[in-house]
Amino acid sequence: MGGPSTSCETSPVSALSLLAWYDTNRRDLPWRAAPGTPRDPYRVWLSEIMLQQTTVATVGPRFGRFLERWPTVEALAAAPLDDVLHEWQGLGYYARARNLHACAIEVVREHDGRFPDSEDALRKLPGIGAYTAAAVAAIAFDRKATAVDGNVERVMARVHAIDTPLPAAKTELTAAARAMTPDRRPGDFAQALMDLGATVCTPRRPRCSACPWRTGCRAFAAGTAEGLPRRTAKTPRPTRHGVIFWLEDRTGEVLLQKRPPTGLLAGLYEFPSTPWRETSWDPAEAYDHAPRANVAWESVGGEVIHVFTHFRLVLRVTKGHVGGARGEGTWVVPARFGDYALPSVMKKVARWALAPS
Ligand code: ADE
Repeated sequence: MGGPSTSCETSPVSALSLLAWYDTNRRDLPWRAAPGTPRDPYRVWLSEIMLQQTTVATVGPRFGRFLERWPTVEALAAAPLDDVLHEWQGLGYYARARNLHACAIEVVREHDGRFPDSEDALRKLPGIGAYTAAAVAAIAFDRKATAVDGNVERVMARVHAIDTPLPAAKTELTAAARAMTPDRRPGDFAQALMDLGATVCTPRRPRCSACPWRTGCRAFAAGTAEGLPRRTAKTPRPTRHGVIFWLEDRTGEVLLQKRPPTGLLAGLYEFPSTPWRETSWDPAEAYDHAPRANVAWESVGGEVIHVFTHFRLVLRVTKGHVGGARGEGTWVVPARFGDYALPSVMKKVARWALAPS
């Protein structure tokens, strides 16, 4: 069959055939309303923010805990930011949690506690980008909106055999998904595409035999599904280097400090460190940045490597002890590190410093 596949009801690749598949194959997920029951925009929004960086399997129990603690947008807006950051541990970038809290406050203050129901108004809220605005508008309010994430890009690239590499292909893939979005049940269509991408049209070894779109899928016909979408080779991330100063007092408490309120890992706790820069550090030069003078710093050996979005960080860890007055600061015994919002990179440092040598 020639020409682009459309949402035309007779095409094997139609919204209707996907919705029929969804009606019997939908995943039962904690944030999903049962068919025919009202959808709670707060739950939909919360789940979409959590799912941006974390798998469905991880989000499941965390979503339940979060909702138990803050069952409504009003409750979340009234919570102290530190509690929200702490509850967010393991759910990815803390900037998301910060925005989540700011968004709850804005919904309460500016919108009377009700999420706006259009993509445009949703986009104006903190932490809500194009994808989330479309997902919430469609899933919570059944607005005709198309949420395009990596799953949807993959499905579109395959169904239409679009072999322009990502990221250049984004516009084309988004247009393809928009063209297929139905007037009726756009929210279910969005979720059906997510489920298809997650359970059938998977990145590797797609289960084409279980796909409702198999007979119209161009990549399936050409045998190229697994190779799509294509991607332009990424430029390698730059490397930065730092030296960590793990300082213990006589009781085994360790010095933590709070990062500045803006920028990378804003407001989170860390072990004191040199700046992170592109050249490595000589020990003598690094010690100029140590939190205390007159400490005999000893290298722990080896390196802690952490990959951020824009750079790869290589940290060497040094340990020191203060014998007498330990001075000002946040001193914490390692067993209580969990009470502080430590980013993953600092958790790795702690595991490294605490490992038996
Ligand atoms: N991934 C992102 N949003 C999702 C949702 N609402 N359901 C399932 N998977 C998702």
